[in-house]
Amino acid sequence: MKNEVKSRNRLGLGTAQFGMDYGISNRRGQNSLDEVKQILDEAKTLGIEMLDTSPNYGNSEEILGKCLTEEKHFHIVTKTPVFDEEIITQKSGEILTEYFETSLEQLGCNKLYGLLVHHAENLLAPGGAYLTKSLSKLKSRGLVSKIGVSVYNSAQIDAILDIFEPDIVQLPINLFDQRLIKSGHLAKLKKQNIEIHARSIFLQGLLLMEHEKLPGFFEPIKNNLVEYFVFLRDNDISPQTAALNFVKNIKEIDYIILGVNSAVHLRENVAAFQNEVKIDFAKFAISDEIFINPALWKLS
Ligand SMILES: NC(=O)c1ccc[n+]([C@@H]2O[C@H](COP(=O)([O-])OP(=O)(O)OC[C@H]3O[C@@H](n4cnc5c(N)ncnc54)[C@H](OP(=O)(O)O)[C@@H]3O)[C@@H](O)[C@H]2O)c1
Repeated sequence: MKNEVKSRNRLGLGTAQFGMDYGISNRRGQNSLDEVKQILDEAKTLGIEMLDTSPNYGNSEEILGKCLTEEKHFHIVTKTPVFDEEIITQKSGEILTEYFETSLEQLGCNKLYGLLVHHAENLLAPGGAYLTKSLSKLKSRGLVSKIGVSVYNSAQIDAILDIFEPDIVQLPINLFDQRLIKSGHLAKLKKQNIEIHARSIFLQGLLLMEHEKLPGFFEPIKNNLVEYFVFLRDNDISPQTAALNFVKNIKEIDYIILGVNSAVHLRENVAAFQNEVKIDFAKFAISDEIFINPALWKLS
């Protein structure tokens, strides 16, 4: 059992860029089908098993379905649709089930590893129990092994744990965004035996961007970014190695979901993940949520 856990590949692959133009540093737009095939082949060669997708990522599920025919190597986690209404109804629960059945069809699978509520606020809205009921039903029908939720902050984690027992929580974490470590929420989730999937490892690519190219929105934290990049340069550490080492050493994280739009970047990241650097990253944390939560960025 110990060996099993040790040998599990903790890296997972995000797929937003397979179905849409995604990421602040992304200059190439949505991947072509050939590029997606190359990335998936590379991921398999590198032993990566976890894929994160969503019906909200353009046609990413359909593209994955085209690329993964007969392919049983990957564990796939998808999401529920996002409900815009303030009150969740029985109908919303039925829509969730229909979306999941469509996801299975698009992906060409009989069952999936995980299904996460995409917007935690939908679970917390009046009637949110209709969604948890539908999730549990899909799990008891054997169509999905683990159910859970994707969150943005600690308040959502607290509120959700009061009403739902998720198997998986997907959350943002990176060396600028250390909120959930400091608040003790990673430890809280682990105490309840919840599988943690971390995203935003590169903060959509911000942690890898030369600061000269940063959009004006980030001007108030430019000094933090300059200080960070100077530190890396002086210590001869690549931004990829720094970002990946930060999360690698957080023992509570089960899977680290990375976004790439080329097989070359994926290879580079896996090599960087294997590098060891001893750095105390605590001083690089940024506390103002508007800069570390991409949903709050004003870029246009
Ligand atoms: N609420 C949710 O459920 C939610 C929200 C956001 C994201 N996600 C999931 O997480 C996945 C990753 O998204 P994220 O926001 O967390 O992104 P991320 O992994 O923090 O950053 C991705 C960006 O980093 C760049 N990058 C990666 N490796 C690189 C390298 N070696 N050199 C240069 N640039 C590199 C990528 O650029 P290149 O494309 O040029 O490689 C991409 O634009 C998504 O695909 C999605 O599956 C889920």
